[in-house]
Amino acid sequence: MKILFAPLQGYTTGIYRRAHAEIFGGVDAYYAPFLRIENGKPREKDLRDLNSFDGNARERNAREGNAREIPQIIANSVDEFKILANALIAKGYTEIDFNMGCPFPMQVNRHRGAGLLSDIQAVQAIMDEIKATPVKFSVKMRLGQDSPNEAFALLPILNEAPLSQITLHPRLGKQQYKGAIDFKSFEKFYAECRHPLVYNGDITSVSQICEIERRYPKLAGVMIGRGMLARPSMAADYKELRDINCADPQDFLSKLFQMHQVIFDHACKTYQGDSQILSHIQSFWEYLEPSIPKKIFKKIKKAGKLSEYQAAIIEITSHLP
Ligand SMILES: Cc1cc2nc3c(=O)[nH]c(=O)nc-3n(C[C@H](O)[C@H](O)[C@H](O)COP(=O)(O)O)c2cc1C
Repeated sequence: MKILFAPLQGYTTGIYRRAHAEIFGGVDAYYAPFLRIENGKPREKDLRDLNSFDGNARERNAREGNAREIPQIIANSVDEFKILANALIAKGYTEIDFNMGCPFPMQVNRHRGAGLLSDIQAVQAIMDEIKATPVKFSVKMRLGQDSPNEAFALLPILNEAPLSQITLHPRLGKQQYKGAIDFKSFEKFYAECRHPLVYNGDITSVSQICEIERRYPKLAGVMIGRGMLARPSMAADYKELRDINCADPQDFLSKLFQMHQVIFDHACKTYQGDSQILSHIQSFWEYLEPSIPKKIFKKIKKAGKLSEYQAAIIEITSHLP
């Protein structure tokens, strides 16, 4: 089964994706956080962040069968959709993911992400545009904003569209990222969906990946977000069928620090002033609390100056071989 790294705005930045691919690996494709319209144009900052696997790296990855980077767009209409898709096609991308799952009120209230799921006509128009656009499209979606009926009303339209894959996060937009996962609706969608289907939601271990694979043998893959931020070795561990108990903790920590160094150096080169640099690098640790000593985690989170942050990092690296 394919292991896909979910897009997480503010976490899986271009440099994070590249460092993860080089140091931990095991991922078949990295989905970039969504590109959106700002002042009538594709948001420049999002476009710049897409250069992590550009040019030679993309060709080399395709040749060697390495991880791909797939950009994602979020749109509330065919007009927005065309502007964003064309910007990515102009950059040479041949595969684009379309977001119909984002639950952030800023997007939902503008009829984007999960806010689009109840609008059959708008989705139909976008699927018609997909038919007329000569690149591959996939969809990442939820069951609905307010009810799972929304996904089932859309499924005939999605089944007819030339999609390469659907990723389903079986929650409603109004649940955001918490609350029960609706496996019953997922199973119904799994039975009725004619495209390769990917499961997404709350996976935190290799044994859970194996359990999902056992329960849904026709799945094309799983997409993992927060679980992979917390355990960046999970994809490689799954590929080598290594349970967490068999993984070498020193090897894990040493890779984690290699990855941190790449992201830290990049933050120091890209941003100015302690607070900007710190806000970028502190998010790297946010989900890693279980992997490092609690005392040091607190120091990292609390650091207000770069010197305090670096002292905490030195303290933790002293635990490495
Ligand atoms: C902070 C944050 C940012 C996210 N950004 C995006 C995004 O840009 N595009 C997207 O499709 N999903 C986004 N998601 C949703 C994740 O990709 C994923 O679907 C969700 O976290 C559930 O999977 P998980 O339980 O494996 O984390 C985001 C989630 C979080 C928590």
